[in-house]
Parts: sequence; C-alpha cells; structure tokens
Amino acid sequence: MPLLKSSFLDLQGLSIEKIHQLFSLARKIKTSGLPPKFRGETLGLLFFEASTRTRMSFETAAYRVGLGPILLDGGLKTSLEKGESIEDSIYNVAAMRPRFLVIRCGDDVDLKEVAQNISVPIINAGWGKQGHPTQALLDAFTMVENLGDLRGRKILFLGDIRHSRVAASHFELLKILGAEIALCGPEEFMPLKHEHKYFGQLSEALSWADVAMALRCQFERHVTGVHFSKETYRAQFGLNSENLKKFSSKGLIMHPGPINHGIEMETEVLNDPRCRVLDQVTHGVYLREALLRSMMGQEYTE
Ligand code: CP
Repeated sequence: MPLLKSSFLDLQGLSIEKIHQLFSLARKIKTSGLPPKFRGETLGLLFFEASTRTRMSFETAAYRVGLGPILLDGGLKTSLEKGESIEDSIYNVAAMRPRFLVIRCGDDVDLKEVAQNISVPIINAGWGKQGHPTQALLDAFTMVENLGDLRGRKILFLGDIRHSRVAASHFELLKILGAEIALCGPEEFMPLKHEHKYFGQLSEALSWADVAMALRCQFERHVTGVHFSKETYRAQFGLNSENLKKFSSKGLIMHPGPINHGIEMETEVLNDPRCRVLDQVTHGVYLREALLRSMMGQEYTE
C-alpha cells in the first residue's frame, strides 16, 4: 500500500509507523540513493509565494525520482499577470496531467476545495498560516537522525510562532512522535490559543531544551499591534554564542530558513557544532524524494 494515496495537505491521519516508514526511505536515499523509477511523467510546481529551499528541493527530488519538473514561479510572465486567478492556474496545470502538483500559496486559496475539484493529488509546500508539513517532516527527520527516537525529547520553538506555518505543522507532527513542546518569545508572538509550556526568558528555555528551533520573525505579516522592535527581539531572544552556553552540549540548533541574520540568530551560530541548519536543507531533498516515491507506491522498511 502506498504511504499516501491522495493529496498531502496536512499531517492528520499519519501514524507514527507511517512516519518512520517515510524516514526509513529517506535514510535509504541518504545513505545509498535509489535509481530513478518513474520516467515519462511530470511534477507540477506552482509557487504563488516566494521560496528557495522548498521549490528547489522538490525540483531536485523530482529529477532524482525521474519526474520532469514543470514550474509556475511567482506569477512572473504567466497568465496571472493577465488577471487569471490562482485557482484557474491550478486547474489548467492539472489539466496537463502531471503526476502531482506541489503548491505554495496564501490563506486566500482554499487548497482543500481545490483538491476536491481535480484528480491530480496536491502536495502542500507551505499554505498560508495553515501548515508546511514537508518542512516539519524534514525537521523531524533531522532530529531523529541526530537524537534517535523523539519520545520525551524537549523541542523548543523560539520566536514568531503566531505567524509560523512550520510551527503549526510541528504541533501536529511532534504530538504523533511523542515529543514535548515549549514556546519562547515575546507574548505577542505566541499563538492566541495554545496548550504548550511557555518561557518568557530565553536562558530558562535553553536550559530546558534538547532542540532549539528558531523561527523567522515574519515582519511582513506584522500588520498591526506588534510593538517588539528588531533590536529588542535580538537583545532578548536572538541566539548568540554567549547565551548558547546555557544550551546542552548535545543539543541541536535549528532554523527552517530563511534566517534574519542578527535578529533570530547571529551569523556565528551557524558555525556552532550543534547547528544543523544546512543539514535541514540537505535532508529536505531526501525527505521530499521519499515522499514522492512513497506517494507512488514505493516502500522501504529497515
Ligand atoms: N523553509 C522554507 O520553506 O524555505 P523557503 O521559503 O525558501 O521554501
């Protein structure tokens, strides 16, 4: 049975066994690679919001599995410039019969409804504030590769959690994987409702955590009511060599990217031996290749 038979919009309904099966396949790809298997079909990449990592890692994964990527990027030189809607753009690319559509879009698009109107499965590549499930999976894969089983592990999310679709997906995923979650940052960056442990002080949060996941401060989404300046954020919650002395020598420092250098973390943190930021990107290719293969019925169990 394929891991996933239809669209992949969120992590609900995934069992811990299926997640570990996906990680096994990603690990197999990481250690020895797998030959291209699915030649002659295409992978539609429709990115209505900016992306570097997600778009290019899906594109790389497509080449590695044998799917030819076809790209609609940001609307430039596409019929979006003539006023065609995002939904019509999706339906028209779906009519070209790619194997899957990988879509990044805002909350203004109802991806669930769009998915019901087409026969091509959709993969969520970052959907408004709703979620970014493949990012959460590649982050968790990176954690498992470094720490083993995540049950009981303490995962700290740091920063602009209210606007983070990555955090939203992690809250689904880490619950399935049995990890403990805590949040740290200005109160106005916290979700309006949440059930997680909260730290107002970075030093206490870092002493608690096995993983410190800094999230991008999404200043472009801070329309009203956010009083925290970049300078204050950096002083109170930005990671640097000094405050990371409080963090476990075996801990992992992570960030899904893109990083605001000198706000969420100082550039020096990227050289810390505990930092896994670029490993996350590398693992993103393996994980997304594993997802494409598993959605096409390829299995691997260690
Ligand atoms: N982490 C992430 O989604 O990065 P991109 O916006 O570059 O895809």
